[in-house]
Amino acid sequence: MHLPDYKEARSRDKRTYNRINFTLDKNIEKKYVGKKYHVKTYGCQMNEHDSENICAMLEALGFTKTDDYLDADLVILNTCSIRENAHNKAFGMLGRLKHLKNEKKDLLIGLCGCMAQERSVVDEILKDYKFVNFVFGTHNLYELPKIIDKAVEENKQQIEVYSREGDLVEGLPVIRSNSYKAYVNIIYGCDKFCTYCIVPYTRGRERSRKKEDILEEVNELVKDGYKEVTLLGQNVNAYGKDLYEDYNMGDLLEDIAKLDIPRVRFMTSHPWDFTDKMIEVIGKYPNIMPSVHLPVQSGSSKILKLMGRRYTRESYLELFHKIKDTVPGVTISTDIIVGFPGETEEDFLETMSLVEECRFDNAFTFIFSEREGTPACKLEDNTSLKEKEERLQRLNEVVNSIFLEKNKALVGKTLKVLVEGTSEKKDMYFGYSETNKLINFTSDKDILCGDIVDVEITDAKTWSLDGKRI
Ligand code: SAH
Ligand code: SF4
Ligand code: F3S
Repeated sequence: MHLPDYKEARSRDKRTYNRINFTLDKNIEKKYVGKKYHVKTYGCQMNEHDSENICAMLEALGFTKTDDYLDADLVILNTCSIRENAHNKAFGMLGRLKHLKNEKKDLLIGLCGCMAQERSVVDEILKDYKFVNFVFGTHNLYELPKIIDKAVEENKQQIEVYSREGDLVEGLPVIRSNSYKAYVNIIYGCDKFCTYCIVPYTRGRERSRKKEDILEEVNELVKDGYKEVTLLGQNVNAYGKDLYEDYNMGDLLEDIAKLDIPRVRFMTSHPWDFTDKMIEVIGKYPNIMPSVHLPVQSGSSKILKLMGRRYTRESYLELFHKIKDTVPGVTISTDIIVGFPGETEEDFLETMSLVEECRFDNAFTFIFSEREGTPACKLEDNTSLKEKEERLQRLNEVVNSIFLEKNKALVGKTLKVLVEGTSEKKDMYFGYSETNKLINFTSDKDILCGDIVDVEITDAKTWSLDGKRI
């Protein structure tokens, strides 16, 4: 049994990482043929991509996928700790699984992801959720086959969570959930320690993959017909800092843009590490999509300081306008937290005025959620939840009306759309523009998913556009 510990997770001493290749123990390959699995994923794209690896490892063991958890012999919850409601959702699901296990004694249940890195969660599982067969963390995803097999063979709960990052594993098998768009990890972990955030504790230190491994993966995707890659990291702009003297995110973006991949995206960008070189490269290469996610969190420099974000309102705006001025037609989206401890009505109004100035193309807005073990928990907070909810509502009204206005301005324009499928509405296709807008559209001629087509915009909604193929 290995239990997580935040003190250890917080430490950031210099260390080197072995880079090893994934191998599957031949003795357990296809051992579970005939059994069905269901993976439920919460949280960010990184978790979604981890689940793509989990599915592939399970299929190597012989399991086949089912979309209905009631039908499964093995259910894995890949969890997220970012806010309390993510937490609650996973525990709610564990409650349902408990009932299911009463009827189905052989059901295997596993929990992984960021919640597994939290000691309080693991303690709760040890005490009240004894029916959970195994728990593993974000640092030992690759050990899943071994852990499942041990749980079965020993018929005993397995808790295998490490607080410190171990080896960097290449060559994990993957079953991608989309045939045209692929996620590619470029950097793991986060060293920013924003005071509200749990990620540096659950995902460990910033560790970059070797550029050769990344380029090789993208090249393989090109060969397999993929049209879009999204480079993933909690803070992709820190890419290379831990590994190279003079090779960073700007260089990597440029090297990837030179490959034959029609669309390159990346997320998430922390404003702190956003270099001029990156902006220049995004503007220069037409296959780097002109769409940047640049979380601001707050428009008040006082709150940004309390959040430990390392930039001010002014320096954020400077960067924002530099990107807008250098990259033609770029869209910028953001994340905003309201109700951070100490946020006054004036601070909130500064966020509102920043939103009016930036007119973001998309914004994910949240009420501050206290995460155990993070420094923000110790800050004094005099604002009631009701007031925070009101702020969120006021903010959402403004951001939503801006989205709609911006979308309306696109009516009559022609956008390039990567076709992903047919919509629920009959005879409609859907896909995303270069600027990452969701577009539902009609077409006189049949088209193939994975094609990139020109679509004239005919109508605008808050969250999507309608159009017809020309
Ligand atoms: N690495 C990314 C953010 C990843 S988490 C970045 O720094 O830009 C995604 C978003 O969740 C954050 O941008 C933040 O807006 C929100 N978030 C993180 N911790 C939170 C908390 N404790 N309460 C509310 N929102 C939070
Ligand atoms: Fe969390 Fe900040 Fe790291 Fe983003 S940069 S993952 S908000 S600590
Ligand atoms: Fe959640 Fe972990 Fe991602 S906390 S947002 S799943 S890195």
